[in-house]
Amino acid sequence: MNQPALLDKAERYFPGACLGMMHLPIDLRMVMVRGTGSRIYDAAGKEYIDYMLGSGPLLLGHARPEIVAAVQRQAALGSTFFALNEPAILLAEKMVQAVPCGEAVRFQTTGSEATFAALRMARAATGREKILKFEGGWHGGHDIGQLSGAPAEPPPFPEAVPDCDGIPGSSRGDVLVAPFNDAAATVKLIEQHHRELAAVIVEPLQRALTPEPPFLQELRAVTQKHGVVLIFDEVVTGFRLAWGGAQERYGVVPDLACYGKAMAGGYPLSAVVGKQELLRLADPQQRGRNAPYIFMSGTLTANPVACAAGLAALEVLGQPGVYDRLHAAGKRLAEGLRRVAAEADVPVQVLGDGPVLQVCFTAHQPLRNHRDLLRADKKKATQFGYELIRRGVYCTPGGKLYLSLAHSDADIDETVALAGSVFRTLR
Ligand SMILES: Cc1ncc(COP(=O)(O)O)c(C=O)c1O
Repeated sequence: MNQPALLDKAERYFPGACLGMMHLPIDLRMVMVRGTGSRIYDAAGKEYIDYMLGSGPLLLGHARPEIVAAVQRQAALGSTFFALNEPAILLAEKMVQAVPCGEAVRFQTTGSEATFAALRMARAATGREKILKFEGGWHGGHDIGQLSGAPAEPPPFPEAVPDCDGIPGSSRGDVLVAPFNDAAATVKLIEQHHRELAAVIVEPLQRALTPEPPFLQELRAVTQKHGVVLIFDEVVTGFRLAWGGAQERYGVVPDLACYGKAMAGGYPLSAVVGKQELLRLADPQQRGRNAPYIFMSGTLTANPVACAAGLAALEVLGQPGVYDRLHAAGKRLAEGLRRVAAEADVPVQVLGDGPVLQVCFTAHQPLRNHRDLLRADKKKATQFGYELIRRGVYCTPGGKLYLSLAHSDADIDETVALAGSVFRTLR
């Protein structure tokens, strides 16, 4: 079917003519039909350099042959069993070896499920109910995930504000919100509330804001002191910033870590990884033993096709030189974008770490937390994203760019030149 006919049907059947968050103005809409390496193609035959990477999972690029072969092999053997399966067991072993806090693993299907389950595990383990999260931190679609993730007009700390309607007041009442990168304010809140606090959940690289030492170190110390479970949401950073994720990169080891996206090579799989004493709560034999037990299961949990894809992805990511390349690519793109923005006389800062980048339209410094980011020109960032898409660079409108192992230096240089042409229109 041709692209206009497909778009007409999408308009009829989907709210907003889109699949979820990724919504484009009508003149930019497309239907993607295939991807290979760093490139994707729409139903009208237009080619894009892809910096969306499926919202992050495709760290090896599209249709990486090792992943395609593993998926085909497993699909022919059976797509799902609701039983122990070899790819799941071998993947769990690899994750425990790679992740610094890893002693045991429970798979889930989405990142949101992983963060939801980790929070439940912390509550069951501590017998406390409150959660502390950071303003601007994103943990998925569940009720707690949708609190103070992106507030345009943030209330005073530690009050939480919902990012969408339909979030019960009870969830809001369970959450304390703290400023990212402000160790003093966070430690004070934790000291005040530790008797009711089950967990602190943090994106160690919050969106593209890097943690300033000793922020994560102080979080580790104060949570340890009070028996509060420290959860790193590594859905973005896991296997992306380093083989051992943000824990390895920033040298701080939490109690639990949530994984998703890159670990599954583009297939639906996530995981909670962490201390044996916490993961044990998800053992169904705990039930009725007068011991804490949490339900953590699902129809497609540890799906063998997704686990086979994850194993194949980790085989590649474990090869020497992978993270040097990802960081070199990130540096080349960030430096290139800074240079062409300066040449166009547009005040821009490029945030992020390695293959995760964010273009912010502001001269304000420093950019350390969500409130600093509110000073940036969001309209310009959206315009920047739209204009890149128009020129054949697929990315999040808003200036977020994910790099993969498939992006060559030539891809990056082509993107920088196109971005330069966009900056000149945004003066
Ligand atoms: C840091 C982080 N945590 C959790 C999630 C939720 O993952 P999913 O969209 O797979 O539910 C996301 C999604 O973008 C994320 O970026």
